[in-house]
Amino acid sequence: MRYFGALSLALASGAFSVALLGAPLVAQTAPASSAHTASGLEVSGPQLTLRVDALRDDVVRVRMFPNGHPAEDASWAVLPTARTARVKVTATPEGFQTSKLRVSLGADQKLTVSDLAGNVLQQDVLPVQWTEDGFRVFKQKTEDDHFFGLGDKMGPLDRAGEAFTMWNTDMFGFQESTDPIYKSVPFFLEMHGGRTIGVLFDNTFRTFFDFGRERNDRYVFSAPKGPLDYYVMYGPEPKQVVEDYAWLTGPTPLPPLWSLGFQQSRYSYYPQSMVEDVAAHLRRDKIPTDVLWLDIDFQYKNRPFTVDTTQFPDMKGLLTGLEKNGFKTILITDLHIAHVTDGSYAPYTTGHAADAFVKEKGAEYVGPVWPGPAVFPDFTQAASRKWWGTNFKEFLDDGAAGFWNDMNEPAVFRYPSKTMPDDVEHRIGGNEAQGFSTRTAMHPEIHNVYGMENSRATMEGLLTLRPNLRTFVMTRASYAGGQRYAVTWTGDNSSTWNHLRETTPQLLNLGLSGFAMSGADVGGFAGSPSADLLTKWLMVAAFQPIDRDHSAKGTNLHEPWVDGPEHEAIRKRYIEERYKLMPYLYTTAEEMSRTGLPITRPLFLEFPHATTDNHPLDNDGPGEFMFGPKVLVAFSPSPEEVAPYVVHLPSGLWYDYWTGKSIDRRGPMGAADHEIRDAKSELPPILAQPKLDELPVYVKGGSIVPMAPLVQSTSEKPNGPLTLRIFPPAPGEACDGDVYTDDGLTFNFRKGEFFRQHFTCSVTPEGALTVSLQEAEGRYKPWWTELRLEVVGSKAAAATEGSKSLALESTSLGKAVSLKATNKLRTVVLR
Ligand code: GLC
Repeated sequence: MRYFGALSLALASGAFSVALLGAPLVAQTAPASSAHTASGLEVSGPQLTLRVDALRDDVVRVRMFPNGHPAEDASWAVLPTARTARVKVTATPEGFQTSKLRVSLGADQKLTVSDLAGNVLQQDVLPVQWTEDGFRVFKQKTEDDHFFGLGDKMGPLDRAGEAFTMWNTDMFGFQESTDPIYKSVPFFLEMHGGRTIGVLFDNTFRTFFDFGRERNDRYVFSAPKGPLDYYVMYGPEPKQVVEDYAWLTGPTPLPPLWSLGFQQSRYSYYPQSMVEDVAAHLRRDKIPTDVLWLDIDFQYKNRPFTVDTTQFPDMKGLLTGLEKNGFKTILITDLHIAHVTDGSYAPYTTGHAADAFVKEKGAEYVGPVWPGPAVFPDFTQAASRKWWGTNFKEFLDDGAAGFWNDMNEPAVFRYPSKTMPDDVEHRIGGNEAQGFSTRTAMHPEIHNVYGMENSRATMEGLLTLRPNLRTFVMTRASYAGGQRYAVTWTGDNSSTWNHLRETTPQLLNLGLSGFAMSGADVGGFAGSPSADLLTKWLMVAAFQPIDRDHSAKGTNLHEPWVDGPEHEAIRKRYIEERYKLMPYLYTTAEEMSRTGLPITRPLFLEFPHATTDNHPLDNDGPGEFMFGPKVLVAFSPSPEEVAPYVVHLPSGLWYDYWTGKSIDRRGPMGAADHEIRDAKSELPPILAQPKLDELPVYVKGGSIVPMAPLVQSTSEKPNGPLTLRIFPPAPGEACDGDVYTDDGLTFNFRKGEFFRQHFTCSVTPEGALTVSLQEAEGRYKPWWTELRLEVVGSKAAAATEGSKSLALESTSLGKAVSLKATNKLRTVVLR
């Protein structure tokens, strides 16, 4: 590798002086210059220019390029409004500052981002290295740095000490150390000393991240080509960083309600009668289910957008019949269009006529996938996306509710690279809003965004065909920002205990990386799960964002009933619990659609200061996660083990979700408690004894959780009251909860057709509980007409609303009162 040089920039007494290290990268004709700009600074050395802009007080963008060759100001990931946003900054002798951040370029050539108190948040340890093989950015790392994010990468939740490559890859049979796999989300959170930043390294080529694997004192990100363009966002709390990232790249939109229900899939259910049998069995056994998935075998010769009419003689009849029975159907619609040139296959004929496919040396590139020889839509071209979108019309007319974009890394069979060759050309066109000029790009630049643009084309097509219907698209490959278009799953996992264990860190890191709604094939895709494994998987997946049972061809069936009535009863009970929690889950999903906060969350997102030395608790309890803001699922860190495991609860008052028993963890959590807390703390450890039919779940004291009567599908109107299950706080501590609902299907909520209500409660030292139901917002009339306030652990003798006394009912968890639901502010007291 030839070392070209590094930019050395220094700012002294308010004026930049620039020096260059190493041999010249480009002719040194440009004069050195430096300037404070309205939103940051721009410094040019003899060869390279550095530009830093504040987009918001807590978000800066850093770009560097060879002089005279600024990269396009463009992004597939970042929203145009965010990318072009600027705030005015205050110039300082070393750089500039905003109301939240200070950016300085020292005489030591280091770019430093700190908070206004001077705490260093990010700092170069070396100047950027720019060579013929690309560039490398080196940042300081302490031994106490924690890294999260980077999408679906396998391995522990905390990515410190690991290194990763971004290159979307069809990775059937991936294992814990396999990298890369399906997605490239070059966004991570870095946490140290109780302060969190986020970094989006927006470069679509095969980028590389090293979080201290090579050297423990620095982390590195690099690219072989493409722009040096990264965004730094500041918390200090991790939640704020996740919200900043949603501001930059957009949140996951509000999904249709049915997509939060249980989903049954297999590669593949066919013929048609088998699909009908599965549906009938689910209803007969009263296993609540909302969705059935049809995999590639419903198609004629694996050709996308066709139906094999010998296997599926009446697709429309099937879909409408299922719909009547409360099931939505999702169809697979892979991107590889069969290369059928005789005019008999409309997707090829029309796509070819629209010049919609990528090319190699001027001719349509043809590669083998499921249908045999196939061509590949040129999704970075708006015109091709538009053509792609038209293909969904018939399936929508037949009653399909959602679509599945698989194989879009893109997977191509028989090549060792598993994808198309580097000399395949993609046309970029019609993406001016995103900053791209019309040009041709070679495959290495587009590879990592190909799947995302595939799902974008699907979503845009669906919105063109059904403008007022929320879309549900699931994609396998994606890039940063892809959450705007589709949800995702973790691809072809395996039916092993280790893969079940990995679903926790994988889904949590995906959630932190924008993919707030994702799932893993329940039961494992490859291989056949044991009865116990499938049961445990179905139990924990009831608390994951997407709950889809899916399996590969040739494996044992894994519908909930396959291992006999005892296993089925356990599995059903957990799926039922998910349905009872649906109001809470949907409320969480609505929060996600505004803020980007994921449905399942690492503990540190809700409790960033769980230990007094500001360590994330998650390091100790790698199986634990939050299901929404209030519910903690203490899944085993090694679910196959039979010995008891320690449950780590952040300090405070907690309740056992199942029994209502309170657990007082208000003792001190001292420094280093994150390692040996339970040994050092005065509090006895909480030990969970693994049992097949038990999953420890806890709720934080001070939580109001909305719940519904059981239904068999979300299309059914729940019969009974909305229950507000109240887990009282300690005296003097906060307590709240929310419920959100709407029609579950359309965008009418944007016009005020929604219902939202906020609840609070408080407890006096004498134990009286006051619950306030705030005035509701929105015009939508919810399904409930009655409210049931169920107070966990309550021993109250009387309940009143104003001067009116209310009947108190004893329940297995405490006491409950029933009220007529209204939209008005009201207060109920139990004493
Ligand atoms: C891929 C998908 C898998 C699907 C199969 C057939 O392997 O990841 O989920 O079942 O293709 O379409």
